[in-house]
Amino acid sequence: MSEPLLQVKNLKTYFYLEGKKVAKAVDGVDIHVHPGETVALVGESGSGKSVTSLSILKLINKPGKIEDGRIILNGTDITPLSEKQMAKIRGKEISMVFQEPMTALNPVFTIGNQLKETIRKHTRVSKAEAERKAIELLKLVGFPRAEDTMKEYPHQLSGGMRQRAMIAIAISCDPKLLIADEPTTALDVTIQAQILELLNEMKDKLNMGVLLITHDLGVVAEYADRVMVMYGGQIVEETTVKNLFLHPKHPYTQGLLDSLPSLEKEVDRLGAISGMVPPAYDFPSGCRFSDRCRHVMEKCRTEIPDLKPIQTGHNVRCCLYE
Ligand SMILES: Nc1ncnc2c1ncn2[C@@H]1O[C@H](COP(=O)(O)OP(=O)(O)OP(=O)(O)O)[C@@H](O)[C@H]1O
Ligand SMILES: [Mg+2]
Repeated sequence: MSEPLLQVKNLKTYFYLEGKKVAKAVDGVDIHVHPGETVALVGESGSGKSVTSLSILKLINKPGKIEDGRIILNGTDITPLSEKQMAKIRGKEISMVFQEPMTALNPVFTIGNQLKETIRKHTRVSKAEAERKAIELLKLVGFPRAEDTMKEYPHQLSGGMRQRAMIAIAISCDPKLLIADEPTTALDVTIQAQILELLNEMKDKLNMGVLLITHDLGVVAEYADRVMVMYGGQIVEETTVKNLFLHPKHPYTQGLLDSLPSLEKEVDRLGAISGMVPPAYDFPSGCRFSDRCRHVMEKCRTEIPDLKPIQTGHNVRCCLYE
């Protein structure tokens, strides 16, 4: 297999809160993504998905801090890079698409200006060339009247169209890695599918690696190659998508899958996992899932199990398999 495009090793990102509380939002995460591969990061709200993606981009601000770990992009450790050096990498080597494009797009500039600005920030091209490239990109992501769209402001576009514009900006400099954090959560179901299809198409076209963050296992099933299940700032299970759906091992993964609606299942299995993800400053001392686990044992309350292979390419963090 090819060299990983992205390697995240033992990433720890903590937030130092008032009253000496420490929120261990990301606590020892390892990730690898290959070119052309879509890796999904799934988990409930508060499990640490966004903090993981922001950490990879080194966009963590006070009171947060990357405490430990390495972020290796194409063989180069980017962990020690300065903010100025990171600014060159963001948008060029690693691009991102977020849930709400209104916060990423600047409301006072036209779509065309924002697109051209990104292109010219990272590549040496003339204004005319940037204009041509911008129009071409808008057409590529599905704006038939791209010349007109260039002159429009973000608020003049629908949510789905804004997300398309975001994608055009994100892929404008041929990034190697695209991080998409809940890229379609704010959109209607039919538009969601179109946007995810578009992302998938662009991934193939550019042979990008994609880190797809979602809480929707349906999206995982459709678009990811591998999946990492996150809980309480840690990866609790990782394997291929097919294997995850056929042989889920971690009780949390099993609960997530049980809570998926299906034709055969009774509706009362919805919400199979009781309770909520604990806040990152107040995890139980043993396994972080122990309070909600239906298989909880004595040692689960005191020991944090390691993430261990139970089979090639299938890792689980659970005392049941120790
Ligand atoms: N700026 C911050 N200050 C303090 N705590 C934070 C901050 N950002 C995130 N956290 C905490 O880190 C943990 C993980 O948050 P994160 O946003 O990564 O979750 P998530 O998995 O992306 O959830 P969602 O699905 O809701 O987007 C949560 O407990 C959250 O409260
Ligand atoms: Mg999030």
